[in-house]
Formats: sequence, C-alpha cells, structure tokens
Amino acid sequence: MRLEELGCRVREVVGGGSLAVVTDENVEKLYLQRCVQSLTEAGFAVDSFVVPPGEGSKDGETYLRLVNFLAQIPLTRADGIVALGGGVVGDLAGFAAATYLRGIKVIQVPTTLLSAVDSSVGGKTAINLEAGKNLVGAFHQPALVCCDAGLLKSLPVSVYQDGMAEVIKYGVIADADLFRKLKDPEKTREDIEEVIERCVSIKKKFVDADERDTGVRQMLNFGHTIGHAVEKASGYRISHGSAVAKGMARIAEISVRQGWCGAETAEQITSILNSYGFDLDIAYNNEILYDIMEKDKKRKGHYIDIVVPEEIGKCRLQRLTTEELREIL
Ligand code: GLY
Repeated sequence: MRLEELGCRVREVVGGGSLAVVTDENVEKLYLQRCVQSLTEAGFAVDSFVVPPGEGSKDGETYLRLVNFLAQIPLTRADGIVALGGGVVGDLAGFAAATYLRGIKVIQVPTTLLSAVDSSVGGKTAINLEAGKNLVGAFHQPALVCCDAGLLKSLPVSVYQDGMAEVIKYGVIADADLFRKLKDPEKTREDIEEVIERCVSIKKKFVDADERDTGVRQMLNFGHTIGHAVEKASGYRISHGSAVAKGMARIAEISVRQGWCGAETAEQITSILNSYGFDLDIAYNNEILYDIMEKDKKRKGHYIDIVVPEEIGKCRLQRLTTEELREIL
C-alpha cells in the first residue's frame, strides 16, 4: 500500500471525523506531511503529536502528555490515533489508544523494518518504567496496519539492520526455509516486501493461536529476555534489534552448553547474525543482566519461561527457576 492511500483505508475503519497522528521528529521530517495530506483529503481533521526519537519517549511523562493532548482536541470514541513510526511510536500511541476513554481505535503505519515485521502487528502496546522495559501495557489490536514498503527504502543502514534481527528470529523459531534464504543479505534486501509478508504471516499464526501471550506466542520472545536486559543495562543506547541479536546468540550458546540444541544450530545462528553485521558481544556481567531479568514481565513467581532453539525453524519453551536462570547465564 502507498502512504497516499492511507486516508481512504482509514476511512473504512474510523467512523468519526478526527484523528491524532503520533510520530517522532525523524519521521516527521520525512513523512508526516504526506500522511496528514492523505488523511485530510479523506475528510479527517488531523492533529499531530511529535515526540523525540528513541526509547526515552516511551515513558510515563510522555504518555500523560499524549493523553492530555488527545483530551484537549478532543478525540471521541468514534475517532482514532495513527501511529506513524517505528516500535517506540507504535507502542506509545498504541498504549494511549488502549487506555484513553478506555480504548479508541489505533492505526499502525510502520516506517521501520522492525515495526513492519513485528511491533505494528499483534496488539502489544506498552510504556517503560524505571524498573524495566514494557512493564505497563495492554493488548489492543490495531484497527488497521498500513505498511508502505517504499518508506523502508529510506532507512539508515543501522535501522534496517535492527529490523533484520527480528526477521532472523522468525527464521529460527518457525521457518527454516526463510532462514536459508536470509543467508544472502543482498537478495534479502531486494526481496524485502516478500520477506515482510512472510514474517507477518508467521506472526499472525502465533497471535491467532495465542493472542494473550500465555502459550505459543511466547516463542516470539526468542532472544528477548537477555535482549531486554542488555537494552536496559545500556540505558537504551543499544537498540532493540541489536540487543535481541546479542540475546539470540547468547541463548543459543547457553542451549548448546545445556544440551538443548546441537552446536551446529548455534553456529548457524551466530553466523547469520554476523553476516548482517551484528556485534554479538555483551559488555555487561551476568549479575547485572540477572538483576534486570528478575524484573522481566515474563517472570511468573519463581519461574521464567525462556525460548530455546532446538533446531533452525523450531524452538520450545524452557521453564527455569530464577536460581537456575542465574546459574546458566
Ligand atoms: N514482539 C513479540 C510479540 O508481539 O509477541
């Protein structure tokens, strides 16, 4: 879909006359005007809320500013929010949509590879607390996800690479054939639309089977328990995708040590991550990571379920006590 078609598509799902577009300062410069024009031409009154780029905007203060802004417009229950951006914007705008007036519609318009293949789909929304990432959130399915793959062509290399971590994740957890195809980074870039479609269809299967993340959907967290800890330990200077890449490599290495998978599976995972230029070293010691992981939202009492690879295309959940988690790191 092209961004110019956004207004007509939104018209099909939003009955009211007002929309708030949430975006960040980087995306504002590139696409906000085109987005607003399309929505205005479809008859909507449009207001925009622009946040600084980066994980810092997923905090409580920005969230409260945003919902106060919505109340001042004022948006009603018939209106909607358009999240134009990457994972931070999608999570923040999605959480505002989930909670403002106890829930209004949100339309996700991903502008990064990571948000196109993962965060814009499936209805997870959240903000961060001082204690950790995504600790306050809600499940709130988007009324619509509009992905213009043309927008992704302008991505800086590092932002593209960030999304590739999630793409590789899909290959490891569910699709050995996709994983094989990803071994050629140039071809992947050429075929990026097809790759996005494939990732979204994998994600859809997991979400359809387990929307509330109590069963198979947890597979989508491969690499994320350690990854989130790395992100948090770095003060979010390490991006989500780079941190997930480190997390996938570390859990693969642990899985070999524990006899949960063969060495060749871990080698394949580290080798493909290397071929996309990821630095897989983790500069934080295990105690720092463990202290953060203890506060992970995935912990259930004394247990945490982590995703471990069995072979390429197949993962499973491994239940560990927090003490066992500390020991295996
Ligand atoms: N990003 C993982 C999930 O949506 O479940």
